[in-house]
Amino acid sequence: MFRSLTSIIYLSLYTVTLTFTNRAPQRSTGDILDRLQEADIVDDIIQRAPYEPLEVHHGNWTVDFGNELPIQAFDMQPQVRWPAPNGTMYTLVVVGPDVPHRDKPEQRDWLHWLLGNIHNNDTTSGESRADYIGIERPLYQPGTHRIVYLLYKHQDNQEVFFFASVIKGRKTMYKRSFFSPIFFARLHELIHPEAVNFCYVVVP
Ligand SMILES: *[C@@H]1O[C@H](CO)[C@@H](O)[C@H](O)[C@H]1NC(C)=O
Ligand SMILES: *[C@@H]1O[C@H](CO)[C@@H](O)[C@H](O)[C@H]1NC(C)=O
Ligand SMILES: *[C@@H]1O[C@H](CO)[C@@H](O)[C@H](O)[C@H]1NC(C)=O
Repeated sequence: MFRSLTSIIYLSLYTVTLTFTNRAPQRSTGDILDRLQEADIVDDIIQRAPYEPLEVHHGNWTVDFGNELPIQAFDMQPQVRWPAPNGTMYTLVVVGPDVPHRDKPEQRDWLHWLLGNIHNNDTTSGESRADYIGIERPLYQPGTHRIVYLLYKHQDNQEVFFFASVIKGRKTMYKRSFFSPIFFARLHELIHPEAVNFCYVVVP
């Protein structure tokens, strides 16, 4: 009851934010779940739950539940926005589950970005656990790839202690492979993401 009430409040806040900024299309929670299921993201990468839409932009490109972004969009670190009541804390995860390609994702999921302990929605306050890297080639082989953005709200607004060491740039790229959001969330008691989004990139 409390959770669904919280969700309604968030959704209202989000709708208000969108009305004022007009930056991303509105989507119902049912539509979001349908799109996540169609793209095999639910069950594969995250579990079935009601999710809020996460606002994500790569420069001028907006991520919108399965739209396609050009490869150069990923050269830019995404800007992520969400409504955050004061005193809340979040962790942001961006993964590519189709590495090296969707038919044989032997390195899934590949961690593009992990920003932990974000105060409210100020991403500059976050703790960089894996800095952002875009579409690496030849790691990303030709074909269509999903890119998934996950926002976890911390329980009781507490800081999270991260077990894995910090990943910086391309030096320790191998550490970005085999990242499981479900396992990561369980290990750090993050339950499931509160807000999500995803898009496709076609690698020539
Ligand atoms: C974004 O759009 C503006 C205005 O259309 C343009 O000046 C700018 O170069 C674009 N930026 C990128 C990164 O494409
Ligand atoms: C942060 O959250 C507040 C309160 O919900 C909202 O007004 C603001 O637009 C959000 N900012 C960003 C960058 O998401
Ligand atoms: C947010 O909470 C902090 C700590 O309780 C407080 O210092 C700050 O003034 C609050 N900010 C707003 C905008 O309410």
